[in-house]
Amino acid sequence: MINKNIFIQTIGCQMNVYDSDQMFRLLRPMGYKKTSSIKEADLILVNTCAIREKAEQKVFSFLGRLLKYKNKNPHLIIAVGGCVAQQEGNKIRQRAPFVDLVFGTHAFCKLPEMIASLESAKNDDFGITDIDFVENIDDLEFESSFFPITGISDFVTIMRGCDNYCSYCVVPYVRGREMSRKPEIILQEIKEKVDRGIREIILLGQNVNSYGKKEGLCSFSQLLYKINEIKGLKRIRFTTSHPKDLSKELIIAFGEIDKLCNHIHLPVQSGSDKILKKMNRKYTRKDYSDKLNSLRKVCPDIAITSDFIVGFPGENEEDFQETLSLIKEIEYDSLFAFQYSDRPVAISSKFLPKVDEEIKNKRLNQLLEFQASISENKSKKFLGTIQKVLVEGISKKGEQQWTGRASNNRIVNFTSPEPVNNLRGQELDVEIIGVCAHSLKGISQETS
Ligand code: 5AD
Ligand code: SF4
Repeated sequence: MINKNIFIQTIGCQMNVYDSDQMFRLLRPMGYKKTSSIKEADLILVNTCAIREKAEQKVFSFLGRLLKYKNKNPHLIIAVGGCVAQQEGNKIRQRAPFVDLVFGTHAFCKLPEMIASLESAKNDDFGITDIDFVENIDDLEFESSFFPITGISDFVTIMRGCDNYCSYCVVPYVRGREMSRKPEIILQEIKEKVDRGIREIILLGQNVNSYGKKEGLCSFSQLLYKINEIKGLKRIRFTTSHPKDLSKELIIAFGEIDKLCNHIHLPVQSGSDKILKKMNRKYTRKDYSDKLNSLRKVCPDIAITSDFIVGFPGENEEDFQETLSLIKEIEYDSLFAFQYSDRPVAISSKFLPKVDEEIKNKRLNQLLEFQASISENKSKKFLGTIQKVLVEGISKKGEQQWTGRASNNRIVNFTSPEPVNNLRGQELDVEIIGVCAHSLKGISQETS
């Protein structure tokens, strides 16, 4: 088999990172090896994101950079996949005619056959566009064994797509209808990963709380109880949750499932009921904070993180102040915040009045500054505490400096009192002795 190089550019969320990995797993048997140098690539694969206009612009500016490589090497194959590919289809090849393949979010399983036909194409103008949706999620997953595993943490998709139609969001249009994988297939995949050294699993889906509902499979909480039984697995995380689907059952599960980490990412988007309604989020600020209060009763020190959008059409100063007051009330550990961005397919693009870019920018900075002070105070509370850290490897800082994550998802860099060869994959008690902007500093209480 001839060795060929693939350069992969991933833009966007964890789902895209996971999908890019899956794409590489599919192409590896064809002789493709990963390269970090575009110049050496025989195949450039761009996995794209359409969530905000900026992400979409990034795709086209990256594609613009590729023309010179294609001019130098006419055999170079350029493939564009993911959400922008799904949304734009053939328009991508009209705008960037040097692109050979455009494949949507449901077409990536056909990659090997599509790349094979491009490799053997005699005609330079030959190109493929495939943006068909499939009806069966099994057609989107495949056997992932015999692939070298490097980390101790790995993603497993449990569902794809979204049926929620939040008014600002492009996901239901580009990732299609919600579809859940069968529990037995998920459990099998996790067991295989654990046998090959994985200790932490991050369950992925646009809205994991509604797992299995449509297909009448087990509930998300029941799935968590089953995963908890897997021997050798130490930790379970999941993302992303929708507040309206956060059930009592899941809150109870947080108290009962010992491998479930002490963290929930629960995007709220806004603290104003008026805006939440226009966003079609189907909960009020009170519903949201009541659920978090119940969760905190079960897990008092659970880390809570969230996503916010500022400058949604019609958001006035009062609405924005309600967002700030929610942030103060919940005291998030950290959050992501974005300026609202019109997505032409999403219905809020027609909502008026639009908020000035300048005001959006001001609100975003104000929100981030406000959260920074909360994060700083929260971090200080960890000083002197003992955190259970799952060790990921040697820290960049050097020898005998290890790095890992506490159950609450904080990065902890720590030293060990005695020289040790390998702590990777172990869960250790670490005393927190310092606080940095994005991590905690510690010293381990034990060596193994
Ligand atoms: N504009 C700005 N932010 C958006 N998000 C989703 N759609 C938009 C949009 N049109 C944000 C939400 C979501 C996160 C993944 O991206 O906060 O939770
Ligand atoms: Fe988008 Fe809403 Fe679905 Fe999340 S729940 S992916 S924000 S439509």
